[in-house]
Amino acid sequence: MALALEEIRERVGARPQWYHTLELAPGVVTPGWFDLRTVAPQVLPSSLAGKRCLDVGTFDGFWAFEMERRGAAEVLAVDIVDPRAWDWPITAGDELVKLLEDRKQGGAGFDIASDAFGSSAQYRECSVYDLDAAEVGTFDFVFMGSLLLHLRDPIRALEKLRSVCAPGGIVCTMDAIDPTMSLLFPRRAMATFDGDGRPWWWMPNIAAYDKMLRSAGLAPVTKPTPVRLPRGGGHPIVKPSKAVLMNREGRRLLAATHRGDPQAWAHSKVVGA
Ligand SMILES: C[S@@+](CC[C@H](N)C(=O)[O-])C[C@H]1O[C@@H](n2cnc3c(N)ncnc32)[C@H](O)[C@@H]1O
Repeated sequence: MALALEEIRERVGARPQWYHTLELAPGVVTPGWFDLRTVAPQVLPSSLAGKRCLDVGTFDGFWAFEMERRGAAEVLAVDIVDPRAWDWPITAGDELVKLLEDRKQGGAGFDIASDAFGSSAQYRECSVYDLDAAEVGTFDFVFMGSLLLHLRDPIRALEKLRSVCAPGGIVCTMDAIDPTMSLLFPRRAMATFDGDGRPWWWMPNIAAYDKMLRSAGLAPVTKPTPVRLPRGGGHPIVKPSKAVLMNREGRRLLAATHRGDPQAWAHSKVVGA
């Protein structure tokens, strides 16, 4: 049963950091890092009636709840609750891990949202690398958002999504891209590499994003479509200053603050299914 308004307010108020902007009740909106409410209608089918759906790397569960809202018969949300178990480069320090632990709070955001919505979505601790159809079954619609960037082995993750997609099903991915490289090299697969201090690895251009899907046995139904992820109320606002404009990361953050985080999404079919 969904929670009473006062209890929702109280639980949201007690948790200052959210990844997702979620309207848990009229007028009770979580201060998310991103506000994906205008993005979901672009990326998800308007109906998922009767479908079995999977959300990989769910965080506060925005995509899982959106799939449920579209009539999914069943939604499974998986995540790694302990940020220490993410793919970190050796150069990462403890400070950032701690910061992410604070934001994650053991997956508490999903629980609060699930209770507020009276959701039936199931939550399970599982790495994308460990998805196994023998354990979780197969899904008509598999969603994974903003995770390829954080994985040391993104192609293996995509292969795993493929392995749990039911015959005739769709794998929907939405992830970070390098917009400049996409403009400069529209046909040539290129990527920039981070791998330093934070769990950020490859940022492909759109051509490489398309090729990554194909190399994992996924055939995009249409070319990956660019989209910007608007920042939410909990996202710091970066203002232009000499220091910000002088370095690449500063310029990236400034553009993300004002125009949203550059990503691309695609619906893919499983090749050979
Ligand atoms: C940047 S957030 C994206 C949240 C959400 N998927 C979205 O698109 O808005 C990345 C999420 O992936 C999770 N994660 C990190 N490594 C993972 C892994 N190997 N398997 C599954 N989830 C993982 C994190 O815990 C976090 O919830």
